[in-house]
Amino acid sequence: VERCVVTLAGERGLLLVGEPGTAKSMLSELLSAAVCGTSGLVVQGTAGTTEDQLKYGWNYALLLAQGPSRQALVPSPVLTAMTRGAVARVEEVTRCLPEVQDALVSLLSERRIAVPELAGTEDSLAHAAPGFSLIATANLRDKGVSEMSAALKRRFNFETVGPITDLDAETALVRSQARASVERAGAPFRVDDAVLEALITAFRDLREGRSAEGWEVERPSTVMSTAEAVSVAGALGLAAAYFPGDRDVLGLLPGHLLGVVRKDDPADAARLRGYWDGPVRRRAEQGSATWRTLWDLRTVLED
Ligand SMILES: Nc1ncnc2c1ncn2[C@@H]1O[C@H](COP(=O)(O)OP(=O)(O)OP(=O)(O)O)[C@@H](O)[C@H]1O
Ligand SMILES: [Mg+2]
Repeated sequence: VERCVVTLAGERGLLLVGEPGTAKSMLSELLSAAVCGTSGLVVQGTAGTTEDQLKYGWNYALLLAQGPSRQALVPSPVLTAMTRGAVARVEEVTRCLPEVQDALVSLLSERRIAVPELAGTEDSLAHAAPGFSLIATANLRDKGVSEMSAALKRRFNFETVGPITDLDAETALVRSQARASVERAGAPFRVDDAVLEALITAFRDLREGRSAEGWEVERPSTVMSTAEAVSVAGALGLAAAYFPGDRDVLGLLPGHLLGVVRKDDPADAARLRGYWDGPVRRRAEQGSATWRTLWDLRTVLED
C-alpha cells in the first residue's frame, strides 16, 4: 500500500494486477477515495470501450446547435480527474482494445488531452492539474482481449495483489464480510466457526494445490478466490437464516463448492471428488466431526 501511495504521488500510473477476486478493485477504490475524496471517476474497461470513454465525447444536440464549444464537450471521468487534479480509475484495462489502451499512453506521458475540434480556443488543450493520477486494474487470469503494449507498460508501476496468505486472516475476513452481508438483509448470522473453517480450508487447499497438512491436491482450473469464499459463506448464512429447519448448513457446503469449481472445465468436478477422496477422507479418518460429515456427503458431488 505504501508503494502504491508513493506511485500516486509521482507521475506514473499505478497498475494493480493479480488473480481474480484478490480485491484489486476494492484497493483501487479505497486508495482513490483516500487520496482525493472520491472513487467515482471510473471507466470500466470492456471489449466495447471506446477512446471517447477515456477522453471526451460530445453532446450532439449542443454540438449541432452551437458548433464545437466547451459546453458541448462531455468530459470522460479521466478528463474530469485531470481538470480536478483527482485520481481516475480504469478497471480491467487489458480488456480494452489496443488502440483504446493507447489513448492512455499519451495521456500519461504528456499529461494533457488535446481537443482538436476546439483549436484556436483556450479549451483546445486540457492540462492535468497537480494531483492527477490514474489507477488501473488488470486480471491475470483473463488476459483480456489484448496484451498491453510495452509503451503503456512503461508508464505504469505494477503492483501484484496476491491472495491472503494467512488462514486466520482469511477466515476473519470471510466471517466479517459474510456476516455483514447477511445482516444487511436483516437476518442474524448463524454459521458456525467450524463450518467457516472447513470452507476456507477447502478453498485454500484447492487454490494452492496442497493441503494444510502437505498432501498433494489437484488444482481445479477455476480460481478459488477469497471473493468467492465470501459469497459462499454469505449464501450459507442466508440459507441458515431463511430455511432454518433442523438442517445443518454444513450439508450445503459440498454443493456450493461444486458450483464454484465447475465453471470452466467439466473435469473440475472430478478434481473436487479427488479432493474428497484424499484430504477430506483422511481428515474424517483422523476423527474430525466436521470432515466426517463432509465425507459422508460425497454423493452430492456425483453427477
Ligand atoms: N485482501 C482482501 N481484503 C479485503 N477483502 C478481500 C481481500 N481479498 C478478497 N477480498 C474480497 O474480495 C472482494 C473484492 O473483490 P474485488 O472485486 O475488489 O476483486 P478484484 O481483484 O477486483 O477481482 P476481479 O479481478 O474479478 O475484478 C471484497 O469485497 C472482499 O470480499
Ligand atoms: Mg476488479
